[in-house]
Amino acid sequence: MRIILLGAPGAGKGTQAQFLMNKYGIPQISTGDMLRAAIKEGSALGLAAKQVMDAGQLVSDDLIIGLVKERISKEDCAKGFLLDGFPRTIPQADAMKANGVVVDHVIEFDVPDDVIVERMSGRRVHPASGRVYHVSYNPPKVEGKDDLTGEDLVIREDDKEETVRKRLGIYHEQTELLVGYYRQEAEQGRTQYHHMMGTLPVEQVSAQLEALLG
Ligand code: AP5
Repeated sequence: MRIILLGAPGAGKGTQAQFLMNKYGIPQISTGDMLRAAIKEGSALGLAAKQVMDAGQLVSDDLIIGLVKERISKEDCAKGFLLDGFPRTIPQADAMKANGVVVDHVIEFDVPDDVIVERMSGRRVHPASGRVYHVSYNPPKVEGKDDLTGEDLVIREDDKEETVRKRLGIYHEQTELLVGYYRQEAEQGRTQYHHMMGTLPVEQVSAQLEALLG
């Protein structure tokens, strides 16, 4: 099962990726998490990505395409994977197609910008695992601590309102074009496209995904 999770920053892709990963036993491939790990390691990739990400811009297509290509060739992706945050531009989607990667489902999470800005102000993350919480809508069992490891949760650098609004602008300019792109792919029988209301509570979105994917 190869799935693309599509939606604006903060639409709930990472939250539902954790649910799907546990449910179907396929790995989550989050390009954002991979880049943040590279920044933490201080690798050349991390150095190139940090300024761009902090400014809410997109990292270059070439860099991201290489990263994803290498990741999906690993053994744990043989039975499928969840792409969270990729593709984000038409050239990224075209590169995947040109490499013969067939996608079974594209799932769009639809959430208005104002809801997103409000959500991001309460987001807390566990960087090591990619688990995501919200202080009100999806709180951890113990305030400020990850449920499984008890480690500290952090606020992401790019969750400041100004940066979130910039990221939303880029989403509408560049990534939203993929809605039309994948709807067309679905019309031509190359994938299945699903539109979901990402404004529903977390558990309801998960239940709908489960019903959809079986
Ligand atoms: P990335 O890490 O991918 O960020 P993003 O796409 O902007 O998405 P987020 O992780 O911010 O949001 P999400 O949809 O996963 O929402 P979440 O589940 O956390 O990318 C970061 C940066 O890396 C980019 O800006 C770019 O620079 C670079 N980058 C990454 N990929 C790239 C690519 N392919 N090309 C170029 N550059 C790339 O939820 C948000 C909050 O809402 C949480 O607090 C959560 O608990 C809460 N929540 C979730 N669902 C619900 C719900 N149903 N109801 C209420 N609250 C909810």
